[in-house]
Amino acid sequence: MRLAIGSDHGGFRLKQEIMKVLRDEGVDFRDFGTFSIESCDYPDIALAVAEAVSRKEFNCGIIICGTGIGVAITANKVPGIRAALCHDTFSARMAREHNDANILTLGERVTGPGLAGDIVRMWLKSEFSGGRHSRRVEKITAIERAWGTT
Ligand code: RB5
Repeated sequence: MRLAIGSDHGGFRLKQEIMKVLRDEGVDFRDFGTFSIESCDYPDIALAVAEAVSRKEFNCGIIICGTGIGVAITANKVPGIRAALCHDTFSARMAREHNDANILTLGERVTGPGLAGDIVRMWLKSEFSGGRHSRRVEKITAIERAWGTT
């Protein structure tokens, strides 16, 4: 499993903590930046991670900003991306099991590093349930097609 991770300056510190978790869990990952707390624009990083996941160069991604909102909005514009902002472990599990989310977003200014680590661990070990959820996810993909983005 290969994972793409990225953050803006608002998520930079939490990203360092999450990369420790990924190393502990033995996850093969690539950091798409940003590489300092200098101000940058979150859509640039979110787009780079989302495109890499959409092209299937990576199985999944994690993107972090101050709230997790801006990067989720951006990533969800990329065809094939289902990005879920999670503040708790139940949502992280449901995002995988029901929504087949391929990107997890987190907010450094919202979620502390301990909880964020648990959210990431839960998200990594959870799997898509398929069944009736496949039909629903396919309906999301159909919307992308209808709007000419896939
Ligand atoms: C940056 O100040 C902040 O707007 C960004 O990290 C993020 O929270 C946007 O959604």
